Amino acid sequence: MARPVTGVHVTGWGAYAPSLVLRNVDLERMVDTNDEWIVSRTGISERRIAGPDETTASMAAVAGLRAIATAGLQPDDIDLILLGTLSPDYVMPSTAALVKEAIGNKRAAAMDLYAACSGFVYGYATGHAYIASGMAKHVLVIGAETLSRYTDFSDRSTCILFGDGAGAVVLSASDEPGGTLGIEMTTDPSGAYLIWLPGGGAARPATATSHASGEHYMKMKGTETFKMAVRTLGSTATAAVKKAGLDLSDVDLVVPHQANNRIIEALAKSLDFPMAKVFVNVQRYGNTSAASVPLALSEAVAAGRVKKGDRLLMVAFGSGLTSGAIMLQWTADPAAMARAAAIGPA
Ligand code: ACO
Repeated sequence: MARPVTGVHVTGWGAYAPSLVLRNVDLERMVDTNDEWIVSRTGISERRIAGPDETTASMAAVAGLRAIATAGLQPDDIDLILLGTLSPDYVMPSTAALVKEAIGNKRAAAMDLYAACSGFVYGYATGHAYIASGMAKHVLVIGAETLSRYTDFSDRSTCILFGDGAGAVVLSASDEPGGTLGIEMTTDPSGAYLIWLPGGGAARPATATSHASGEHYMKMKGTETFKMAVRTLGSTATAAVKKAGLDLSDVDLVVPHQANNRIIEALAKSLDFPMAKVFVNVQRYGNTSAASVPLALSEAVAAGRVKKGDRLLMVAFGSGLTSGAIMLQWTADPAAMARAAAIGPA
């Protein structure tokens, strides 16, 4: 085992979104809804849907390879692959194992992380711990989802919200200043059934009846989830900033979980934080769960919203109820920024 290091930095990043676009007007033909209602209640105008040959593993692999290329590394430089997802390709094997095969890595350990929309942030925190302890030098952390396969497209209260995609970062050991500054993770099971997918697990195995009654689709108590999300995102974000020894006024950009624009605006208001310093792309992707934060991060960098030395706050919230936040200082070198620009965003 190598010696423990003090610095854990984002050295690579990348994203992938499927090309099929599902617009609000398309949903108008499927359920009793309309563009104006969806935009005013959620901020979402369209979302991406995986094609028939795309899965969580295939999208995760593209995002992962882009992150590795941005870092200027080869797939075999990666020691550990962590995949946050609630829509794995199979119950077993892990989707991370399939990603390892797809990216051509021969040496990494690979595992899935199950923390719903907080999956990427939980993965980042786990990767950080492996690097800080000296157990890994480069960790590929991915958030990827094919939520369309778990969405009931006859339920207007949920089908308008979700989309598919993937995002990834490479975390690397370095004793340079900056990098990860503070991490907070929480789980509050009192709200465990606010967002859930009842069927197909050991508690309610798949049967003809469970299929017929729609138990294999995501269910959500929207209004309660909304309130919990705003409260929890605020406290988690504040805790990560505090652990970094900073104030919210030191934060240059917040990259929040993209669940609903009204949640993001309410979060900013509750923290008295300007929306001008919050990155939002929910309008084009909807809620992509574990993919949302790394997808937004990649787009924020591509849009020129992140420069060397900036202090970024990533914060997520999801089923569980899980929540996590990462405070970091962006240290990517100009060569990595140029490689990312050549690859492009999602
Ligand atoms: N189109 C038109 N009308 C609708 C639609 C729709 N798609 N969906 C619901 N309505 C109706 C309801 O039936 C209700 O009608 P009623 O008053 O006649 O009963 C009315 O609109 C209001 O419904 P609410 O559910 O109260 O609407 P709300 O303002 O709460 O918005 C929403 C619903 C958008 C789901 C909101 O509650 C929300 O965003 N919640 C959080 C969702 C979230 O973030 N979930 C995921 C987090 S974790 C994870 O991603 C796994």
